[in-house]
Amino acid sequence: MTLHPAPGLTHSDTVLILGGGLIGLAVAHQLARSGRPVEVLSRRRSEAAGFVAAGMLAPHAEGLSGNLLALGQASLAHIPAWVAQIEADSGLSCGLRPCGIVVPFATSTERDIYPTVTWGEALDRHGLERELPGIGPGWQAGLLFRQDGQIDNRRQLMRALERACVELGVRFQEGVNVLELLQEGNQLAGVRVRDAAATVKIVQASTAVLCSGAWSAQLLPKLPVFPVKGQMLSLQGPREALQRVIFGPGTYLVPREDGLLVVGATSEREAGFTEGLTPFGQRQLEAGIESLLPQASQWPPMERWWGFRPCTPDEGPLLGNSPVQGLWLATGHHRNGVLLAAITAGLLGACLSSDGGSAEQQALLKPFRWDRFSS
Ligand code: GLY
Repeated sequence: MTLHPAPGLTHSDTVLILGGGLIGLAVAHQLARSGRPVEVLSRRRSEAAGFVAAGMLAPHAEGLSGNLLALGQASLAHIPAWVAQIEADSGLSCGLRPCGIVVPFATSTERDIYPTVTWGEALDRHGLERELPGIGPGWQAGLLFRQDGQIDNRRQLMRALERACVELGVRFQEGVNVLELLQEGNQLAGVRVRDAAATVKIVQASTAVLCSGAWSAQLLPKLPVFPVKGQMLSLQGPREALQRVIFGPGTYLVPREDGLLVVGATSEREAGFTEGLTPFGQRQLEAGIESLLPQASQWPPMERWWGFRPCTPDEGPLLGNSPVQGLWLATGHHRNGVLLAAITAGLLGACLSSDGGSAEQQALLKPFRWDRFSS
C-alpha cells in the first residue's frame, strides 16, 4: 500500500531520515503513515543497534526511574498497537512476546531496595524456582515483572519494519555515509554524503531527523552522545526450556520462542568505537550464564557479536528539536532503544505535525530536550 502525500505537500517536503537503524525506521514508518514523503539514508545495516540489541521491553526490570521510567512505561503501553500496525503494513510478524522478566537477587534485602520494586511481584527462592526452573543456587529472591517482555528485533522486527516502510513508499539509500549537515543561516539546507559508489554529493532537504545512534555527535558535535560498547552471544537451547527473560546483574538471558537464547551484554564505556570481541567480555557473559542458568552453559553456541549503544550523560534519549532549525533529534536511547522505538516514533511524528502534538506528548518530550545538560 502506498499512502499519498498529505494535501499541500510536494517533493521538497521530503523528510530525510539520517540513519536506517530501528529508531530511523520507526520514525520513517510513522511519518510515511501520516502521508509525508520520506527518504532514509543508511550507512551499514549490521552496525544498527536494532540488529545488535536483545529486544528486551524492560522499563521495570532495567530499574528505570523518573522521567525515563514514565517514557518507557508510555512506550510499553503503546507497543501492542504499534506492532499490530507494522504487522498489518508489512504482512510479517514482529515476534512480540509478552513473557515477563524476572530480576534475581542474592538476598531479599537487595530485592526490596530495587528502584522499581513497587511494580514487581516479590519472589522467594521457591518462587524463583517456579518461574525459572534450573536457576543457579546463588539466587535467593527475585522480582517478577509480568508487564515487561521482549520482541525478536534481530530476526523479525527490523525486517517487518523495513517492509512496512517500503510498502508505504519510503525510499532508501543504502551504503550512504552522511558527512556533513548543510545550513543556510540556522536553517537546515541538506546534507553532504558519500554514496555507495564513493561519490560525494549533496542531498537537499529542509527537514531531517537525526537517528544516527552512537555516531550522532559526529554530525552535530554539540550533542552529548557517546558510545557504550556491548558484546553479546547466543546459544541454542531446547524449546520452552526457559519461559521468562532473566535479567541478572551484568548478564541477561532472553529466550526466543524457538529456544534460541540471546545473552547480553557487556557495558564498556572506555572502549569507544573499538570494534571486535574480547576474551574478557565473552568470559564475563559465560560466567553470567553459569551463575544464572547453569544448564545453559552446555547449550551449543550460535553467534557472537558486538555493538555500540548511544549514551548521554543522564542515559536518557535526545528527542525533539535541535540547535539547527529543521533538524529533529531521535537519538541517545542507550540501553532502551527497542523499548522506546514506539514512543519515539509517535513523539517525532507529533513534532513534525502541523499542531506539534498533544499536551501529553509535549509533556513527555520536555525532559528529553537536547540542551537539558547546560545549566
Ligand atoms: N537493553 C540492554 C542492553 O543495552 O544491554
